[in-house]
Order: sequence, then C-alpha cells, then structure tokens
Amino acid sequence: MKVGGVPYRAIFAEGDGTGVRVVDQTVLPHRFETVALETAADAARAIRDMVVRGAPLIGATAAYGVALAMRSDPSDDALAEARATLAATRPTAVNLRRALDGAGSLLLGLPTGERAAAAFGFAARLCEDDVRANRAIGEYGLEVFREIARRAGAGDAAGRELNVMTHCNAGWLATVDWGTATAPVYLAHDRGLRVHVWVRETRPRFQGAGLTAWELAQHGVPHTLVPDGAAGHLLGRGEVDVVIVGTDRTTAAGDVANKVGTYPLALAARDNGVPFYVAVPSTSVDWSIEDGARIPIEERDAEEVTRVRGVDGDGVERWVRVAPEGTRVANYAFDVTPGRLVTGMVTERGVCGAGGLRGLLGG
Ligand code: MRU
Repeated sequence: MKVGGVPYRAIFAEGDGTGVRVVDQTVLPHRFETVALETAADAARAIRDMVVRGAPLIGATAAYGVALAMRSDPSDDALAEARATLAATRPTAVNLRRALDGAGSLLLGLPTGERAAAAFGFAARLCEDDVRANRAIGEYGLEVFREIARRAGAGDAAGRELNVMTHCNAGWLATVDWGTATAPVYLAHDRGLRVHVWVRETRPRFQGAGLTAWELAQHGVPHTLVPDGAAGHLLGRGEVDVVIVGTDRTTAAGDVANKVGTYPLALAARDNGVPFYVAVPSTSVDWSIEDGARIPIEERDAEEVTRVRGVDGDGVERWVRVAPEGTRVANYAFDVTPGRLVTGMVTERGVCGAGGLRGLLGG
C-alpha cells in the first residue's frame, strides 16, 4: 500500500535481500518510520514490543528473525536458540509457530553452509504467499460486500455507502501487504463500490485509532472512528451493513481468537441480524485444535491499560496515566468468538461457514 504516494510493505528486504526493515508501528500515527532488524533478538523484541504486530506480520518477522540468526551462525544450536527466543514472544497468533516450524524443518535438512540463503528465501516466499492470500481474500470478500450492498441498495453512485465495521487493525500493517479484513475494503474502494468504515478505537493499545484510521486515510477510504462501546448503538440503529474482522488463530472447528472485544462485537452483530465475517488466511488456522477454549490468550502489561500515549498541543509525544496508581489490572489481549456467531469465513480459497474450513482449505 502507499504512504504519501510511495508503495510500502510492512516488512521488506533491501540491498542483497538480507537487510530487513519494518514499519515501526509504535510511533504511528504521529510519525512514519522504518527500522532495521539486524539480529534474531531484534526481531523478537520487535514482535514483543509490538513494533510489528498482527498475526501474519508476526509470522513473517519470525521467519526473517531465523534468517538473521543463520546469517551470523548457521549451527543447529543457533537455529534452536533463535526459534526458542522467537517462539516465546507472543503466544496467540498461530502464524508465529507455523513460520518457525516451517523454517526449522527446511533448515535442519540442509548443510550449514546453505542455511542462511535458504532461510532468507523461505522468509521471502512466506511474504509473497501472504500478499497473494490477502489479495485473494480481498476478491472473495468483495463478492460478499457486493451481495450485501445489492440487497441493502447501497454502495453504488445512486445509493448510500456500504457501512462496514471492523475491529483492531487487520490491515496492511498487520500483514505484509493488503491486510486481511481490509483487503476487500481497499478493493471495493478501488473498484467503485462506495464503502464507509466504522473504525473501533480498540482499547487498550488503540490499533483502530492509531493504525486502521491512518491506513484508511492514506488510501482515501471514508471512515469514522468510534469508541469500542459505541458498536452496539450503531448496530442497533441499522448503521452497519456488515462486520469484518481478522484473526490470530482460528481452530479447525471455526472458533476465532482475535483482538479482545471481538466476541462482544459478534454478539451484538448477531442480536441485530448484521452479518459477521472473519477474514482467515489459511496460515491463521490451527488444525491441531477444535475448541477455542484451548487457544492460549496473551496477557500483557498493566501499563497498557493504566496509561495512554498521545501527542499534546505542542506536538510533543507523551504518556499519561488514566487510572489511580496501583490499580489492579487484567489485560487480556484477545478473546474467542465461537464459530456459531460467525456468518462466514473469508479465506484465500473462498468463503465458508465456521464448520467448513477443513473442506475448503483441506487441513
Ligand atoms: O495485538 P495485535 O495488534 O497483534 O492484534 C492484532 C489482531 O487482533 C488482528 O485482528 C489479527 O492479528 C489479524 S491481522 C490480519
């Protein structure tokens, strides 16, 4: 996607293909900066501190983290250490484990002298696969949007805009490019289906306010930022035609772990008869479990809840405290939406119900 007219990916290789850079998501929307990752430890820190975030991008960064480790030491020990360090960063997105397992099984079968090049090749292919899958999700999701718009009399020049609601950031910043939940939005906008996006701010880290609103603005997609708690009101008043969100891990039976707040959004959508779609690349499906209760849910620092970061009137970035000092905090980063609340899963191979993932993706 473009930033100020210049095409960017959220992670990219430069030079001879072994220099790795990422967009620094901790300083958006106030500043756009990219940072270099030099080592596996840099990649692990970037994932843990959410310089990069979003399930597909976490997987891509982990793959490059392994490659950076192999560049300096291609031994079995270094490979094991890099995998362990990267695996310990964030527990919920299954893309992380998938990328590390894929890199590990490829590299262990190779002589050490070939490992660095193979690891960079693996990471580059993973990124291209991600872009291709997201683009396909965009095409299938666009068909869903077109059908909903047709029934609602929305989206064309004569009607009102199609109102889409999303949560967190499942945009290009959360992937290598395009995003998952945003891919159909961008394609709709580019192809003349008039869309408007309700962007939930996404407490506590504000991925909606800081990242999704920024992304949509860069691409010129009309959008409105709302507090998370406003969703029920908007759904109840018929202001939302369709909800679409991303996922960090979806079980084989279709239970969906995504940013905390997704589950109540799905409940409110169901109560108001609004279709609730999940954009699910096959890399985010965990075929080893059926029941969403078995998905590990990350708990993060209390300070993410007790403090907020912003820019003051003089343009100075500051953190400010919003809760009494010493307040006990629970900061669950994700929740699980049962598959029964999902109208459809939009994958790179088509759209299915929660129970249809195995049939469609062959896991
Ligand atoms: O904690 P985050 O910002 O990494 O959470 C991201 C999400 O919940 C996204 O919806 C999910 O990773 C899908 S991204 C295409």
